[in-house]
Amino acid sequence: MGKILVLHGPNLNLLGFREPEVYGTDTLDDINNRLQALVEASNCEFEAFQSNAEHALIEKIHSARGAVSFIVINPGAFTHTSIALRDAFLGVSIPFIEIHLSNVHSREAFRQQSYLSDIAVGLITGLGSLGYELAIQSALTRM
Ligand code: DQA
Repeated sequence: MGKILVLHGPNLNLLGFREPEVYGTDTLDDINNRLQALVEASNCEFEAFQSNAEHALIEKIHSARGAVSFIVINPGAFTHTSIALRDAFLGVSIPFIEIHLSNVHSREAFRQQSYLSDIAVGLITGLGSLGYELAIQSALTRM
């Protein structure tokens, strides 16, 4: 079957310690381990990648072309700033779901703009780490 790539943007390496009242207490490893089990139970390949660098995320999206069927991404703060990430997704035409742990629409005004939502298959926001699992379940139905 195909391969699902999960991308985590800046500061998400701090999950578990970072503003737990907003982002919860699961670490990135906790989340990735659960997602890997879900994906591999469906006989698909799984890869997770986190970076604090915009260029590294863009390079990862470029190298996914031809190798990855679906991407789940929490772009972190790059959601609200990165035309370059948007262009990378448009460039490779790989379908993706945008996910946020917190409900970005109930927070500061600057978090309510996304450069990705309108080109995503879907958006999950505010459901905590469960949102990643729901995104993966949706991705698996499209493999
Ligand atoms: C986030 C929301 C963003 O606004 C923020 O910059 C993050 C995390 C979330 O998962 O809720 O880093 O993407």
